[in-house]
Amino acid sequence: MTGDSKEIEVYRNPIVRLLDVEIGYKKTEPLVKIPNLEIFPGEIVAIAGPSGVGKTTLLRTIAGLVRPISGSVEVCGAVSPSKPSKGILGYVPQRLGLIRHTSVMHNVMIGANAGHNKSLWSILPSSLAKKYASEAINSMGLSDKLREPIRRLSGGQQRRVATARTLAQRPSLIMADEFLSELDEDTMDMVLTAVTQYVRQSGAALLVVEHDVSRAKSMADRLLVIDDGRVNPFITEATAMEVKI
Ligand SMILES: Nc1ncnc2c1ncn2[C@@H]1O[C@H](COP(=O)(O)OP(=O)(O)OP(=O)(O)O)[C@@H](O)[C@H]1O
Ligand SMILES: [Mg+2]
Repeated sequence: MTGDSKEIEVYRNPIVRLLDVEIGYKKTEPLVKIPNLEIFPGEIVAIAGPSGVGKTTLLRTIAGLVRPISGSVEVCGAVSPSKPSKGILGYVPQRLGLIRHTSVMHNVMIGANAGHNKSLWSILPSSLAKKYASEAINSMGLSDKLREPIRRLSGGQQRRVATARTLAQRPSLIMADEFLSELDEDTMDMVLTAVTQYVRQSGAALLVVEHDVSRAKSMADRLLVIDDGRVNPFITEATAMEVKI
């Protein structure tokens, strides 16, 4: 990174590498076992599986918010418990974490500033951060809502603000948890096009939780299914065309 401009770091190695990982909140009760998972630059990987099986926990573990019970979690070269540099990992959480009383622009600028290693509360944000924020808001079809406080937006609009916040950050890995829910078909296509374009052009990777298996198959290069039909669920990797649950 130089000065104000943020080049997205391009990795030749996997952006995410999990080896013999068990995830969960209790050592004695792992939710999911992941023998081996690698996600490469430019790849879109979807995770499907029943409610409560551990999809969000897997994303939170990769994000460094939950410690793995065992095994090695590596993101952009940083092996847990080390974390990748600030701004490298973008997360659209299932519970969006937006600041409800401030505007769309303010929320998206938080992402843009995080991507620029600047203070979250910077009073005079860089013109580049503003440009990234505006572009991200436009790509989510929200340019007419710039000054609207979050609490006055619909559920689907709020979800798009959270996606814009992550795109403005220009991360090397985007993890998105059910980011298409509450959207109609046209809006879904718009959001998916913007995020897919970002991933393909920047060489970032996208790991997305999507409970709708046919949608997951159509958007992803690879689909991982967490199977809860076993005592210790584990991830099966299927091609986008051949799914086993
Ligand atoms: N902070 C926590 N502490 C302890 N247990 C938790 C915590 N968060 C989630 N769990 C439990 O872990 C399990 C997996 O939860 P998780 O949120 O990962 O499921 P999910 O697959 O994302 O489900 P959904 O599709 O409904 O979002 C659930 O049984 C849940 O109750
Ligand atoms: Mg979840």
